Amino acid sequence: MDHMVELRKVTKRFGGFTAVDEVDLTIKQGEFLTLLGPSGCGKTTVLRMVSGFETPSEGSVWLAGEDVTDLPPYRRDVNQVFQSYALFPHLTVQDNISFGLRMRKLSKAEVAERVRNVIELVSLSGMEKRKPSQLSGGQRQRVALARAIVCQPKVLLLDEPLSALDAKLRHAMQIELKRLQKKLGITFVFVTHDQEEALTMSDRIAVVNKGRIEQIGDCADIYHSPQTSFVANFIGQANILAAKVTAHEEHASRLRLAPDVHVCIPRLVGIPGVTELVVSIRPEKIHLQKTKPAGDNVFEAEVDEEIFKGSIDELSLKLPSGLTLTAICANESATQETFHKGEKVWCSLHADDIVIVRPE
Ligand SMILES: Nc1ncnc2c1ncn2[C@@H]1O[C@H](COP(=O)(O)OP(=O)(O)O)[C@@H](O)[C@H]1O
Ligand SMILES: [Mg+2]
Repeated sequence: MDHMVELRKVTKRFGGFTAVDEVDLTIKQGEFLTLLGPSGCGKTTVLRMVSGFETPSEGSVWLAGEDVTDLPPYRRDVNQVFQSYALFPHLTVQDNISFGLRMRKLSKAEVAERVRNVIELVSLSGMEKRKPSQLSGGQRQRVALARAIVCQPKVLLLDEPLSALDAKLRHAMQIELKRLQKKLGITFVFVTHDQEEALTMSDRIAVVNKGRIEQIGDCADIYHSPQTSFVANFIGQANILAAKVTAHEEHASRLRLAPDVHVCIPRLVGIPGVTELVVSIRPEKIHLQKTKPAGDNVFEAEVDEEIFKGSIDELSLKLPSGLTLTAICANESATQETFHKGEKVWCSLHADDIVIVRPE
């Protein structure tokens, strides 16, 4: 079975409010798929319809080729890890983990064996007898995870499971979780509002906005080829600019981004007659230098503000026309050329880094 989870035209309304709007989504067996979007966009509601805690108003939910739309949660081969961990405070680590298994008809020896394996897998060996109150946040998270995977579900749903952890631990858990997922081969549907987390962990990302999937693709695809200004802004930073098409040549089209910024992009095809566009330019794609480089897509600006961020400098650039742009330079060496407030700089862009997006 190649398709493990499938949503077909799924809509969820709460009264007159549409929380999830005609979502089509197919997730492959063994895939790590992340639903990424701002708070309130409908991520949790999508997960709850996969687990069965919420019923779609329209459309159908499929698991491993079976229509489960009308099946209750306990009849679905799905498990969930919650943000709040939801551990039993009076039970030990071991008993928390084996809880779900004891509901099933397994021998004592088999339960013990599975629990031992999963405790080792999530690096909790030696903590079997502790209570949740005797564990750190990261360790509690591991218990919650162990409890979910010990039942060997086909699909694991994770709703912002790392959001209570501090930044360093959170990053370590991201790497660990991804490694574990690949090892187990379980299909993960992961929810987060954190774009960096999504990029770190996912095979594919579905960017959700106002109950709809705006774009779905692998990380590089979503980052380098955003199709909408929402996606460009939500993942990473973006300069979103209105552009006028001024000419088409054999291999290139010319755009005017401002009176003092004319650029060349690969020839536009399939949109004849369009004269106005919106483009996205990532700040790190604007190359800065003190002397004028040769070639196309070069313009001059003044540094209006510089923010030192350690590994990068973030610069606010002002053009004579009044246009402002954000640029980022990597601090590759402590002795490299730097740019300071009030200085003139030359900016250059690669034609492929000017990406046409659909405005909101
Ligand atoms: N049971 C409910 N009754 C009414 N509105 C709800 C209910 N559950 C969610 N909503 C609304 O649906 C929208 C999406 O919620 P949710 O799926 O929790 O978003 P997210 O997880 O992306 O933050 C929100 O506006 C929320 O207030
Ligand atoms: Mg949520």
